[in-house]
Amino acid sequence: MKFVLKSFGCQMNKLDSALVTSAMKQAGFEVSDSPVESDVVIINTCSVRQHAEERVLSHLGHLKHIRKSRPGLVVAVMGCMAQRMGEELLANEAVDIVCGPGQIDKLPELIQQRLEKKAKHLAVAEKIRAKVEESEAQGLEEFEVANDLTEDQLPGQAYVRAMRGCNKFCTYCVVPYVRGPEASRPPESIISQIKHLRDQGIKLVTLLGQTIDSYSYTENGKKWGLAELLEGASAVEGIEWVRFITSYPTDLDDSILAAMAGNPKVCKYLHLPAQSGSDKILKAMNRTYTSGQYLELLTKAREMVPGIAIAGDFIVGFCGESDEDFEATVSLVQKARYKSCYIFKYSPRPGTTAEKRLEDDVPEDVKKARNTRLLEVQSLISEEDNGRLVGRRMRVLVEGPSKKAHLDKSSQDVDHKQLISRTGEDYIVVFNGPAQLAGQFAQVKITKASALTLFGEL
Ligand code: 5AD
Ligand code: SF4
Repeated sequence: MKFVLKSFGCQMNKLDSALVTSAMKQAGFEVSDSPVESDVVIINTCSVRQHAEERVLSHLGHLKHIRKSRPGLVVAVMGCMAQRMGEELLANEAVDIVCGPGQIDKLPELIQQRLEKKAKHLAVAEKIRAKVEESEAQGLEEFEVANDLTEDQLPGQAYVRAMRGCNKFCTYCVVPYVRGPEASRPPESIISQIKHLRDQGIKLVTLLGQTIDSYSYTENGKKWGLAELLEGASAVEGIEWVRFITSYPTDLDDSILAAMAGNPKVCKYLHLPAQSGSDKILKAMNRTYTSGQYLELLTKAREMVPGIAIAGDFIVGFCGESDEDFEATVSLVQKARYKSCYIFKYSPRPGTTAEKRLEDDVPEDVKKARNTRLLEVQSLISEEDNGRLVGRRMRVLVEGPSKKAHLDKSSQDVDHKQLISRTGEDYIVVFNGPAQLAGQFAQVKITKASALTLFGEL
């Protein structure tokens, strides 16, 4: 039996996809990359913006056609959309199984049952904000530990979940309603997983959590925060780099910055979304800081951790965002001097406070113009700051051959492939080198820089 899995969305989804792929293989299924040649199609979905959901729905339309020639094909929809839409998705002609993020441990069995012609099945949390039952939590934890986290990931790298869910309730965000309450995983379990990954040749571990800096777990009387977890993870011999995403500004305490400053294995990369530079909008978003406090935090981070690279997220066109509010965001981006920024146009999500109580009153063309403008502002900053890295030698972890050629043709090295790599600070570095370097560290001298990429020589 063959299956194909298509994954949309964030790193958390990529990790869930890796776990499900591994579990399906253990259950005897074979990986395929084509739905027309498969017996099972699994789609891992994202609900964070409407556009992400539309892509999944159009994919389902495509599968409906494929099913005409392959009537026995089983289609399972997992992830955030599964939890959000439940019955509505199950009613879709192209769908057999709907499985929420908290039920993925049951997915291989549900698929087996459907292949045996059992009824369509809905497996989602009924009360998503209720504390997860002990037995269910244990099922998920066992699933997480039993399966391979390296499936479909870059060579030498793996994601490891530190926390599930989110308790912040930013008014625009659907995550607390689809991934449930915040829950930290036991450190013992995380660290034994990291040892196992090390045995498989993993060198870079990225710890995942929606608000990873609020990680908290008490085990045998010892309290673990993110700083302790970073120390524990980096103490695993053979692990060379430990990274963590994503942080919430008011949860970032000094102990975390101290770990970044003092421990050479902890990467100096901080993903710290601000979302807006206007205090009025931050308040409407239920973000619990002002732009001034946010900037002070960046100053402190840079003082405590020299060389730190900071990335941000912004939403433009949130409810009530005036030109003045937007200019405050531009000003914040100019002051923050991010390494890079992810910028999104506000998309109202059903069930969130903003969708229920605030008006989506910024026209689409204004959202688009603000998005473009903010990207331009950041692009200039990235170009300038990246330019300062020219001449530096940097240690990189090689991901593999580049799909498209980045360097000038004139500088193409005929014997060597163009490789993509990243530094600990998450800078992308492209250079010519042997393909066998994939998954290995290398020293690269930076020779050229653009806004998005550094170019170098081995
Ligand atoms: N509309 C647009 N962007 C959103 N994000 C979260 N929810 C929404 C939404 N409703 C963005 C935030 C978050 C990132 C993962 O996605 O910037 O940090
Ligand atoms: Fe969503 Fe806010 Fe939680 Fe991030 S912190 S997942 S934006 S609710």
